[in-house]
Amino acid sequence: MLELGQECFPEDEEQTIEELVKIFEFLMRDYRFSPTPRTQHPKSHGYVQGEFIIEENIPDQFKVGIFSTAKTYPVWVRFSNGSGFSSEDGKFQPDTTGDIRGVSIKLMEVEGKKAFEDSAPNEQDFIAVNTPIFFLKDAKAYLDFFPVVNAIRDGKITRNDDGSPKHIPDELQQSYEAIAYSLPLLDNVRSQVMTSPLEANYWSATPYKFGDIAMKYAVFPHLEGEKFNIETAENKTNYLREAMTKHLAEKEAYFDFSIQLQTDAKKMPIEDPTVLWDDNESPFIKVATLKIFQQEFNSQERIEMDEKQSFSPWNCLEEYRPLGGVNRARKIYADMAHFRNEINQK
Ligand code: HEM
Repeated sequence: MLELGQECFPEDEEQTIEELVKIFEFLMRDYRFSPTPRTQHPKSHGYVQGEFIIEENIPDQFKVGIFSTAKTYPVWVRFSNGSGFSSEDGKFQPDTTGDIRGVSIKLMEVEGKKAFEDSAPNEQDFIAVNTPIFFLKDAKAYLDFFPVVNAIRDGKITRNDDGSPKHIPDELQQSYEAIAYSLPLLDNVRSQVMTSPLEANYWSATPYKFGDIAMKYAVFPHLEGEKFNIETAENKTNYLREAMTKHLAEKEAYFDFSIQLQTDAKKMPIEDPTVLWDDNESPFIKVATLKIFQQEFNSQERIEMDEKQSFSPWNCLEEYRPLGGVNRARKIYADMAHFRNEINQK
């Protein structure tokens, strides 16, 4: 019987991860831009400073690791678009095109044993996207996913208005069938309109340890007043940075950081992040406030810091070790960031 927080390891996982590394390294070498950006989530809307304030009255079950003591940590936060370059002009995909959007939060001055020896001391990263589920079931699916989405982008695979396939080249048939389930999930995220990165909900989508059990986390904004009106943007291509710039020029931004405990090993699986953990079964409970300072963040110096920075789900305390196959594959983030920074120093 499956226990809470229990992982299952496919035999060929190491090989899958090696293949993924080769693909990402190839993608990075292939970039014609300087500096070479991240292969995933390359477009940043802002790299900003703030504070992570642990709540005073947290239910006992949630007092795990840093959440056992009411304390304030300095943070760096990066907001991003998932997609890279548009095939038409080789520039970052405009923000008006639907996409997965991310938030990466780095707590500083954190004490405790790290899950991964190689990771930066005294840091705890939390990484989330604007969907509660991930669109791929496991790491292996990524190997089929890449050629299929690239072929859709380049018009080699065509689809009807309802998303069903119109034409698939023979050599891509097998890959398409393997990940066909993921396309509606991805279409669903991409169909959402984001007004501002500071006005969106984000979820970890994948599970993490939480002491002896498991959790997912989420980051929900405090919404006050009017949302950013995209129609008023001076530059629609990069309107998400503009929305953040205008907001933080005037005032701070706040988010609730909340945790959802795994209460049922079957209905809330560890190994398949395409399954939603129902919040009627187990609600998200607020454990901290993420405060982003009022600030100007568009300086060249800040942009360079952003490009050099590295976030990783494995840059975490032992208590929050990443769980599940998708997360195990994400151990590569640190190497990818290292590789990216090496290319950029040449
Ligand atoms: C097998 C699954 C996945 C793989 C192989 C993968 C791979 C990557 C890579 C290579 C990077 C760039 C790292 C760097 O150069 O610094 C990245 C960044 C990112 N990924 Fe993933 N990813 C996966 C799943 C996910 C999931 C489930 C999420 C959901 C939260 C996610 C959210 C992000 C975000 C937000 C970033 C940007 C990090 C930053 O701001 O530096 N990824 N991913």
